[in-house]
Amino acid sequence: MTTQSTVKKGKFLYEGKAKKFYEAQEADLGIFEYTDRATAFNAKKVGQIHDKGAVNNQVSAKLFSVLEGKGIPTHFVKLLSDREMLVRRVEIIPLEVTIRNRVAGGMARQFGIEEGRRLKQPVYELHYKSDPLDDPLMNEDHALGLGLATEPELKTIRELSFQVNAALQEFFKARQLELIDFKLEFGRHKGQVLLADEISPDTMRLWQFGTEEKMDKDRFRRDLGKVEDAYQTVLTRVLND
Ligand SMILES: Nc1ncnc2c1ncn2[C@@H]1O[C@H](COP(=O)(O)OP(=O)(O)OP(=O)(O)O)[C@@H](O)[C@H]1O
Ligand SMILES: [Mg+2]
Repeated sequence: MTTQSTVKKGKFLYEGKAKKFYEAQEADLGIFEYTDRATAFNAKKVGQIHDKGAVNNQVSAKLFSVLEGKGIPTHFVKLLSDREMLVRRVEIIPLEVTIRNRVAGGMARQFGIEEGRRLKQPVYELHYKSDPLDDPLMNEDHALGLGLATEPELKTIRELSFQVNAALQEFFKARQLELIDFKLEFGRHKGQVLLADEISPDTMRLWQFGTEEKMDKDRFRRDLGKVEDAYQTVLTRVLND
């Protein structure tokens, strides 16, 4: 689990809050290196979660493979090491898509609703991807009017997001975890919309069935303790077929 980089990476391209991105041998591919850097509240809180990079890389790889198996096109090509994966390079569509099955986090704050309320149907949200603006909520007309995506792209993104929700709910339920909500990013690659970025305990809320214990980045955001344990538990259960 502590293996460091073993793969020869190309030129460093850019770095976000949690991953470094490098060129790969083929021009249309790239290599993500997942780090242990943890941020919350759009980087107003910063820390480290030991081995988070390795957990998120392997959890993402597994979930992308599961989704590919359900016919959902993703950027994932293959795992390269504990912390590295080969992906298709995309032009990121600057939207963060959220699907919520129960009220938590931003939605609880925004509408003054208690966390945990079950929704009558899943709620699909678009957010403008902008850290300085705290990823504000926007609707499809904003995205169209601002030229962030086309109508067919938005249709695809919505359909794929609901497919991801159904697939991941089932996957986690079998592992005694309830999928409360999650964030997705999509990108353009050779004329196709692909699911990109990562799907990990950093980008989902997962609650233990029965106890509703939080098993995701909320343990870091809210100083709940046992952060590393939660990430390791999620990895173990995700890899358990
Ligand atoms: N397949 C891909 N090709 C190119 N860029 C990608 C791909 N998948 C994800 N990205 C982008 O790589 C960047 C680095 O990821 P990281 O998670 O570290 O960023 P972040 O700090 O969360 O940034 P952001 O707020 O932009 O999402 C992000 O901007 C993400 O949108
Ligand atoms: Mg990110």
